[in-house]
Amino acid sequence: MTNLTIFAGRANPALAQKISDYLGIPLGRRKITPFPDGELLVKLEEDVRGRDMFIIQPTCEPVNENLIELLIFIDCARRASAERITAVIPYFGYARQDRKDEGRVPITAKLVANLIATAGADRVLTVDLHAAQLQGFFDIPLDNLYAEPVLSRYYSQMHMVDLTLVSPDVGNVKRARMYARRLAIVDKRRVSGQDVEVDRLIGDVKGRNVLMMDDLISTAGTVCDAARLCKDKGAEKICVGATHAVLCEPAVERLRDAPIDEIVVTDTVPVSEEKINGVGKLKVLSIAGLMGEAIHRIHNDQSVSSLFK
Ligand code: R5P
Repeated sequence: MTNLTIFAGRANPALAQKISDYLGIPLGRRKITPFPDGELLVKLEEDVRGRDMFIIQPTCEPVNENLIELLIFIDCARRASAERITAVIPYFGYARQDRKDEGRVPITAKLVANLIATAGADRVLTVDLHAAQLQGFFDIPLDNLYAEPVLSRYYSQMHMVDLTLVSPDVGNVKRARMYARRLAIVDKRRVSGQDVEVDRLIGDVKGRNVLMMDDLISTAGTVCDAARLCKDKGAEKICVGATHAVLCEPAVERLRDAPIDEIVVTDTVPVSEEKINGVGKLKVLSIAGLMGEAIHRIHNDQSVSSLFK
């Protein structure tokens, strides 16, 4: 893999290091310098001319900082004559602003997709896009990985019995089906960025252990309200699994106080020790092996979808 080179922005250094360890190649040397007014300078400190270059940078919090750093990184790589540039975005922020559901609002997911392509990316590699159809926002090839094998492996080792899969909203039904044998659905309405209203549970959870899967936990309103509803309806143990641990305010307190026995997430977004300790029942699994294998396959023109068969 001599032609393969991987670099990382500053958004998730721990994940980038694990991917580098998996591939057995060091992260490329670069310097990222903020100017006094907040502008950024990205400089590559090694040659990338003619290389197959992968830039790892999730657009997690601080979202706008990390996004602009990614765009500048891509521009820098293009001007340094990398042969092919893949933006590796383990968590794609802004994905939820994907349609005009009221008048005079932007479609920011499309804008960000355009920005990434315009900056010079040839391809995108991401994990559990909020909605699969977002792939159509990109005019360049995109590989959307699923965290499902990583989470399923964990849950199958737990040998949970009397299990019902619960989708915390209608949008997640397809995801829950990926994991499910028996399925129940919570009927949810979002009333604001922080709050949701759960109306009813479609299905039966009485006396069952519940596993609830979501693509992301942001303020944790969705999974906590759904967990409370399941508890009210007689569920026994409640476990929550999610790919992206965005965990913005007041997620830590909500998760800590909710009737949830365990929350398992991946490291697409860095999760601080403070948050892990604050929630007290949070486990982080690494997605690095899956991402590293996908990079290896893209570099070698091998199938990525066969990873999920
Ligand atoms: C909704 O469509 C998503 O799949 C998540 O359920 C939602 O975005 C999570 O947000 P929060 O944790 O703030 O309720």
